[in-house]
Amino acid sequence: MTHPRQHPIHVVAHRGASEDAPEHTLAAYRKAIEDGADALECDVRLTADGHLVCVHDRRVNRTSNGRGAVSALELADLAALDFGLRKTREFWRARDEQPQWEHRPEDREATSVLTLERLLQLVHDAGRRVELAIETKHPTRWAGQVEERLLLLLKRFGLDAPADPERSPVRVMSFSARSLHRVRAASPTLPTVYLMQFVSPRLRDGRLPAGVSIAGPSIRIVRGHPGYIERLKAAGHQVHVWTVNEPEDIDLCVELGVDAIITNRPRAVLDRLGR
Ligand code: G3P
Ligand code: CA
Repeated sequence: MTHPRQHPIHVVAHRGASEDAPEHTLAAYRKAIEDGADALECDVRLTADGHLVCVHDRRVNRTSNGRGAVSALELADLAALDFGLRKTREFWRARDEQPQWEHRPEDREATSVLTLERLLQLVHDAGRRVELAIETKHPTRWAGQVEERLLLLLKRFGLDAPADPERSPVRVMSFSARSLHRVRAASPTLPTVYLMQFVSPRLRDGRLPAGVSIAGPSIRIVRGHPGYIERLKAAGHQVHVWTVNEPEDIDLCVELGVDAIITNRPRAVLDRLGR
């Protein structure tokens, strides 16, 4: 079990600086690092040929110019797509805002499908400590393969078995307790975050599934369940809240003493925290 952080609230860039640049692209993660984020959040899925890629939805339809399920496409198919088309000049014009980021077709890599391996390399080369919060998606479909591939990749970067979980630069998150259990079984010192969209009756007293050290409640839970964050903390858990974008929600998280804020706007949150 971990103890609450003694240092400032960690700011985690949700899908990168995804308010400004297209989510889960190298462009969004580079921007998050520039913005000063402490950590990067990403969702991972397996392609048909066994590569872990950073894509949120089951299908690529919303975020790219392609169609189909990630699990049915090979990495080469995904590499032919552009994941940067949602934040064009027209997008910013429609919002009557100055572009925060410009789509430059000549920088193909910036908006190509992002493999987890490339993201690990980016973090490795960042020149300062940048942590990673990796969320396993569709872990049931692949019956353990997502976690297996994830741990193999982390091993390549020397990140799979931290000596001190408190200082691990990587944590694995999931809505699936089974997925987190698989990770801990293979790598007992890697911190795990149990994501919650609602508070199930058996967890209302602040307990988490066995072995999980960090709670990941949504901001709706934080707003709607007075006293719950205190119970999680009293049970010795860190609390990482998602997805916190509004000033009043940032202030509520500060007031409650959460450990990490996961946000689409890392720079705005850092500003609000006076950092
Ligand atoms: O950081 C946790 C959060 O990302 C979970 O929700 O749907 O954005 O993956 P989702
Ligand atoms: Ca996520």
